[in-house]
Amino acid sequence: PATFERALESLRAGEPVLVHDAADREGETDLIYHADAVTPEAVAHLRNDAGGLVCVALGHGVAEAFDLPFYAEAVDHPATADHELGYDERSSFSLTVNHRDTYTGITDADRSRTIRALGEAAADPATTEFASEFRVPGHVHLLKAAPELLDQREGHTELGLALADAADLPPAVVVCEMLDERTGEALVPADARGYADRHDYVYLEGRDVLERLD
Ligand code: 5RP
Ligand code: CA
Ligand code: ZN
Ligand code: ZN
Repeated sequence: PATFERALESLRAGEPVLVHDAADREGETDLIYHADAVTPEAVAHLRNDAGGLVCVALGHGVAEAFDLPFYAEAVDHPATADHELGYDERSSFSLTVNHRDTYTGITDADRSRTIRALGEAAADPATTEFASEFRVPGHVHLLKAAPELLDQREGHTELGLALADAADLPPAVVVCEMLDERTGEALVPADARGYADRHDYVYLEGRDVLERLD
């Protein structure tokens, strides 16, 4: 099957996909799994092979149902007044969370517990009592998508959720930036592609996703 269909199949099967946003945006490649499918091994994979910040992106509607704000709107501090990002108008950061059944929240088992529970909650927001299931702050960063996804923002938050939507999966994906172990910089696209080939994972350019879904 074509690369794009293979990406949807991968997400449904609990396999990761790699998505590079754009050279004129962050210029980062995120390793992305559907949240439902995450295991402690997948969290280990994210921190060892990707190495960036492990975040769960939620659809806008789900985040609203759970009363999850954008961080910068919720925190009244002078430093939140202007995001001043070089690559976008605003950050998609929301709150940080842990599932209440976790202990410290940071171990692979704990983060996996939190991430999977977020996946299950996103699948059924109406029956989720968010505050009784999760505590804030925690060790998993939440990202809140733009309401109209790719029509409004072209970040990994929206790219990942647009792929989940196209795969008919609930609106919750875990994303983590791939960093170069040697230089500490964002892994360059050629190396991200090489990594994907070695592991038989799908690598997509943001513009390929936009062409298919926007
Ligand atoms: C959080 C980030 C990542 O880049 C993540 O991909 C979400 O951000 P965006 O939607 O702006 O790409 O900075 O670790
Ligand atoms: Ca590593
Ligand atoms: Zn990103
Ligand atoms: Zn980033």
